[in-house]
Amino acid sequence: MSAVPLLDPLAAYALWAPEYPPHAHNPVMQAEERAMHALLPASLEGLSVLDAGCGSGRYLLQALQRGAGQVTGVDLSAHMLQRAARELDAAGHHGRYALHQASLEQLPVADASADLTLCGLVLGHLPALLPALSELHRATRPGGLVLCSDVHPIGHALGWTRAFKAGGQRYAVRHAQHLYSHWHGACARVGLAIEAVLEPMLDPNDIAAGAHFDPLALQVPVALVLQLRRPA
Ligand SMILES: C[S@@+](CC[C@H](N)C(=O)[O-])C[C@H]1O[C@@H](n2cnc3c(N)ncnc32)[C@H](O)[C@@H]1O
Repeated sequence: MSAVPLLDPLAAYALWAPEYPPHAHNPVMQAEERAMHALLPASLEGLSVLDAGCGSGRYLLQALQRGAGQVTGVDLSAHMLQRAARELDAAGHHGRYALHQASLEQLPVADASADLTLCGLVLGHLPALLPALSELHRATRPGGLVLCSDVHPIGHALGWTRAFKAGGQRYAVRHAQHLYSHWHGACARVGLAIEAVLEPMLDPNDIAAGAHFDPLALQVPVALVLQLRRPA
């Protein structure tokens, strides 16, 4: 059996973008999204929302649906941003968002410009938390909220990869394991207060009949979701 090629995020998401819908499209994302929703304010009326690593626009769409006033997405991948623009326009949001191609380590946004910063399933693609968390802190206004999710570090220990298929070929995307102690240390360094930590589990109802998956996946959390706040 040939090894699955391991790609860096830029190469991986260029291939994955056409197949990457702007909604939770597997049981891990569904578990992660339920936890993010538990922490997301029901109304974002008039708020300025930054989605760092916005991908194909899942949380941008949801922020607009919840009434966000100004919505900005940043992503490393031009292909994912093109997909996000198409999805946002198709949902009738043309002219209501801004998208920028950049890395989380150098966000092209003004200091303290976001009331709420979202960062869904991105930070595992970066080798270190500190530079990105420092930018999320800078971009968020004093008193503002930062909601971050990552695949749970236990998955790495169990040998799970972040795999996908494109053109009939299987690939994996580079991923670094960020333990809770890494989050704790990096948040303390940049000045983000950790207000809540969720570790959602899979819902067996989300798993398609006949799907091949590691049965251990039902016994461990699959995502790490953190509510952080930049102190006022
Ligand atoms: C798993 S997808 C998640 C997309 C979206 N946040 C969501 O939850 O649906 C990860 C995204 O992170 C982006 N990404 C990876 N490394 C990045 C970096 N250093 N800076 C910005 N975006 C990055 C990828 O291009 C991809 O769109």
